[in-house]
Amino acid sequence: MGEIVVAITGASGAAYGQRLVEVLAQDGRTVRLVVTDAGRLTLAHECNITPEELAAAATGGEAGAAGGGPSESGAAEVILEDNDDIAARSASGSAEIDAVVICPCSGTTLGKLAAGIGDNLTTRSAIVAMKERRKLILVPRETPYATVHLENMAKLSSWDTVILPASPGFYNHPTSIDDLVDFVVARILDHLGIKHSLGRRWTGDELK
Ligand SMILES: Cc1cc2nc3c(=O)[nH]c(=O)nc-3n(C[C@H](O)[C@H](O)[C@H](O)COP(=O)(O)O)c2cc1C
Repeated sequence: MGEIVVAITGASGAAYGQRLVEVLAQDGRTVRLVVTDAGRLTLAHECNITPEELAAAATGGEAGAAGGGPSESGAAEVILEDNDDIAARSASGSAEIDAVVICPCSGTTLGKLAAGIGDNLTTRSAIVAMKERRKLILVPRETPYATVHLENMAKLSSWDTVILPASPGFYNHPTSIDDLVDFVVARILDHLGIKHSLGRRWTGDELK
């Protein structure tokens, strides 16, 4: 089972990234967590948590050291990597990485990717995912979108990147912010091919 890179950038909706990291760790996956400078700000402002605290909490108390592999015990780990370290494992084409998820993904990071720019670990990991044909999922959040955002998303989608906007559905009658967050995280897990029990699936009988 390869590792999954989760990058949190400075778009609003840091809670989506936080929850994704928690659920992946609970599922026993090793997560390489990368947070941009702006992502660190939104994570603090919206979730009142630092990347270090997130990694430690999701690991079960102790953050994994960057550069290390899966823990010797085989237990899931969240390894916080430095967004400035473009030599980190997340940026490697030969490392056993299954997928890269940028959640949430800012318009800035979207623009860099559409232009092929890999100037930090977040963007470099995503560009490596494209060249290695790894699964790449972007979770943009902005409203309204500028034409440049829409054009960048169309371009990236045509290159097999999954554009999965942070647009929770209301057809399951959510009653909390957690429900809305889980809706989006559930769709990400579906695209990663990871079984889960978040939320309810549409049966087809709801409107009958
Ligand atoms: C509180 C706050 C909320 C923001 N929300 C968004 C947003 O929803 N979408 C977006 O594309 N950018 C948003 N931004 C702007 C990005 O953080 C900014 O473009 C930044 O350069 C992104 O850099 P990064 O992609 O390296 O994280 C927000 C900034 C702040 C301070």
